[in-house]
Amino acid sequence: MTGRAARWTPMRRGCVTLETANHRASRARACPVAGIDDRQHHKTAGVASTGRPSIYELRQPEVELGGFLDEHLPALRGAAVLDAGCGPGSYVADTLARASGLVTVDIAHGRLRLVERRAGRVCGDLQALPFPDATFDVAMAMHVLYHLPGIAAGAAELRRVVRPGGVLYALTNGEHAQWEVQDLVDRNGCDPFAGGENRFTNENGGDFLRTAFDHVQLTELTGSRLVVRDPECVIDEIERNRYLTEPGLRPGVGWQDLVAGVRRDVVDVVTREGAFVISEAHGLFTCS
Ligand SMILES: C[S@@+](CC[C@H](N)C(=O)[O-])C[C@H]1O[C@@H](n2cnc3c(N)ncnc32)[C@H](O)[C@@H]1O
Repeated sequence: MTGRAARWTPMRRGCVTLETANHRASRARACPVAGIDDRQHHKTAGVASTGRPSIYELRQPEVELGGFLDEHLPALRGAAVLDAGCGPGSYVADTLARASGLVTVDIAHGRLRLVERRAGRVCGDLQALPFPDATFDVAMAMHVLYHLPGIAAGAAELRRVVRPGGVLYALTNGEHAQWEVQDLVDRNGCDPFAGGENRFTNENGGDFLRTAFDHVQLTELTGSRLVVRDPECVIDEIERNRYLTEPGLRPGVGWQDLVAGVRRDVVDVVTREGAFVISEAHGLFTCS
């Protein structure tokens, strides 16, 4: 793999700040995204830390991220990598330990600000990536493609910025993943699919990706679950995803009603059973 991760020039949208992969450059600039709407406003809001663990830290059996990357994303090693839709940067440290250079991009500058500065940080839209063709050896789009209004457009952009012979890794969920949370939200007055998480799944994701990539392979990663003993950890997750969930509130239901109902239900389950258990069903697409 080559290490062409030296310098990126913002190509299309103005809303970009970059840092070079050899870490000479500066800091992410908070800049508005053109045409921002209410829903996007939530995306740009900072995510407050409560000090409690995220539900994803309560996974059983525990997954060691470095080992996961080595086993399932081997092309990261020595590569110029794009982490597309990086969020607060969960993959950044372990990717930096393997890649020759890493640039992160996210539409939400509130989240991008949390990404460690050893990585390049760019505020931008995955459907119009501000990079020249064939900039990267590898792109990763982890739990992000289902957020895009245009999933095929995102796939085409990822194909464009990954060099011929390079690889895209796209992680998502099965249709029934986290059904316990969907059920909680549904029961308390909200369409659980308002955020669109079921638009790009293990089951249908291959169809989108094949519009841009010749070879698409799915690895299903089953068997893990999130075992939550503190109900407030579920509330934290609901609050973090407010920008996705709130548009699905049914008429007459306010955000605080939803939160109160979810809290009551989770407390009931934890009191009765000792933990609120959330099933997972991940799928990793490897595309070239
Ligand atoms: C569920 S988070 C996943 C974060 C990270 N990849 C991870 O797995 O921990 C989805 C991320 O995609 C970002 N996102 C949503 N739409 C986007 C778009 N059109 N362009 C770039 N990023 C986007 C969100 O801001 C959010 O940070």
